[in-house]
Amino acid sequence: MEVGIDKIAFYTPKYYLDLVELAQARDVDPNKFTIGIGQDQQAVIPNYEDAVTMGVNAANQILTDDNRQSIGQLYFGTESGVDNSKSAAIFAAKLLNLSPYIRAMEVKEACYGGTFALMMARDYVKLHPDQKVLVLAADVARYGLDTPGEVTQGGGGIAMLVSAQPKLAVIEDESVFASRDVADFWRPVDRMAALVDGHLSTEIYKEMFADLWQRYQKQTQAEIGNFAAFAFHLPYTKMGKKALDEIIDQADEQQAERLLEALKASQAYARRVGNLYTGSLYLSLLSLLQQDAALQAGDRLALFSYGSGAEAELFTLKLQKDFKQIIAQQKVEEALDARQRLSVAEYEADFQKQLYDSSQNVESDYPKDSQDAVFTGWRDGQRI
Ligand code: CAA
Repeated sequence: MEVGIDKIAFYTPKYYLDLVELAQARDVDPNKFTIGIGQDQQAVIPNYEDAVTMGVNAANQILTDDNRQSIGQLYFGTESGVDNSKSAAIFAAKLLNLSPYIRAMEVKEACYGGTFALMMARDYVKLHPDQKVLVLAADVARYGLDTPGEVTQGGGGIAMLVSAQPKLAVIEDESVFASRDVADFWRPVDRMAALVDGHLSTEIYKEMFADLWQRYQKQTQAEIGNFAAFAFHLPYTKMGKKALDEIIDQADEQQAERLLEALKASQAYARRVGNLYTGSLYLSLLSLLQQDAALQAGDRLALFSYGSGAEAELFTLKLQKDFKQIIAQQKVEEALDARQRLSVAEYEADFQKQLYDSSQNVESDYPKDSQDAVFTGWRDGQRI
């Protein structure tokens, strides 16, 4: 039986920072950010958004009264958990009005957590084909003001509905994965921003991709020409190019040109949003499906997921006959165009206004007329 992604949605807050302005404020050549790193804009996360609100606001775009009833599990991949004990999925299940008779679990392994959630969802649906699984992957990518990682911040949430006979893409059975203990990026429990050895993380990412591609080829006899496109976890868009460069010499000239065009399509949204950590690979997928007009039903895509620390997986999708109609329901460009640009000073002020102290009864700056899920503040140590 074929199982895969039936629907996908993306949500990001309504503020962004222009990275040419950030470069000027940091006294850096803007070409370093826009060409060297490959980022034009980044999402700014106000103090009334968090992983839960962004995951829920993505899910609300694809849930209907009908499909809500058939959700048997909710898996939430995040490395920006809002509680050291309670699962983000429990907050989300309540806000989404899901049945109480489900498993609602949070998964953590850096940016890889969303992929683990997706694979668990696929396996669950294979055993229970009458049910669907809601997968959420949402994060705030935060390194700190005036740090090397600052240009690679961002945030947002992805929601995917996993079902039998999916309308968008089948997740194929064969995949390859690996774990390695590496100190390339981590966040001790007393910190709100990540610690990172950025150059090491880029090297490990490339090494694990090249290694898993070789392993996948050995296992399946696949060739690069079997795939219409590759989509990557994009901590910054140049990372996708660095990864593809590891294997592009296996493609003939025409195929190489085509893969580079597809890569560009997959990078379009990440260029404007930045890193989503767990959701980043799936924003690349959404971007690829909406921006690459050459893709056809039946095409196979290879996806590479990387989580620092480190865990990686290479897996494949097969596009289904209605994928273009399903993907057209998502209005991502319109949502990105409608965002409000913040000055560097406004972004810096927002950065300092996060409400991390649960001992204070405080309200966030949430818009009182919002129709979306918002974090309103702390009351008696509880996150409201
Ligand atoms: N014009 C054009 N290009 C320029 C330039 C200019 N004026 N100045 C510099 N560049 C280029 C450099 O040549 C370099 O290109 P290559 O990488 O192709 O050689 C690029 O801009 C970046 O320059 P630096 O390496 O000097 O930049 P940096 O030291 O400031 O670090 C970074 C960049 C490592 C990405 C840093 O932003 C960082 O640490 N980011 C966070 C970590 C990260 O995203 N790691 C990715 C892999 S880990 C992962 O995937 C998990 C995750 O989500 C975190």
